[in-house]
Amino acid sequence: MTIKTCIFDAYGTLFDVTAAARQAAAEPEFPALASTWATLARDWRNKQLQYTWLRAVTGDHADFWQVTQEGLDWALEAADLGADPALRQRLLDLYWNLAAYAEVPAMLRALKDAGYQTGILSNGSPDMLSGAVNSAGIGDLLDDVLSVESVGIFKPAAAVYDLVGQRFGGTKAEVLFVSSNGWDAGCAARYGFTTAWVNRAQEPMDRLPGRPDHILADLSPIPQIAATR
Ligand code: LAC
Repeated sequence: MTIKTCIFDAYGTLFDVTAAARQAAAEPEFPALASTWATLARDWRNKQLQYTWLRAVTGDHADFWQVTQEGLDWALEAADLGADPALRQRLLDLYWNLAAYAEVPAMLRALKDAGYQTGILSNGSPDMLSGAVNSAGIGDLLDDVLSVESVGIFKPAAAVYDLVGQRFGGTKAEVLFVSSNGWDAGCAARYGFTTAWVNRAQEPMDRLPGRPDHILADLSPIPQIAATR
């Protein structure tokens, strides 16, 4: 089998979703975050994802920016920070311009130099994704940025993973799909992609029907994995 296309999840995989709360916590305007930012970041992420799954099941699609704000509002209220509009706005501004993980540019450059097609497949709305790609400066290392908005349902619906074949062609197994979300890597494996799970937080394996082919601590080994499959 030969990998022809490397597709990346965006939030949590290329872009550090905890960076927004961590950075706001370091700013003098938001002292209340100093002890709570990690819990806030975790609750924000968990609620954001739960809302995507629930909306996919019930058919109540809304774009990822709305879901991101709704997850944040739940997390702020849970942390007793729901009455701080300046903090809410600061966190959303930071989320729009998330940093990429340090190894991302060199990893993508190595894939492009080796001739692979590269892209993002994300729940993010097109404008959110273009904000993150531009702030990370990786636009010229990606052949395309695919958003679930073109099918109106969130991952892990098969219609989302279908976008890769529609755009890049080839077989499912010729796609190396990379995600730091265990459920996304598992569901993409079940769909038929070759998959790598970037398990930065050393979490347990999700108990789902699909299991990833590779488990990595960060993204650096991706070019080598693609070359040796
Ligand atoms: C994404 C979410 C799942 O970027 O992180 O699709």
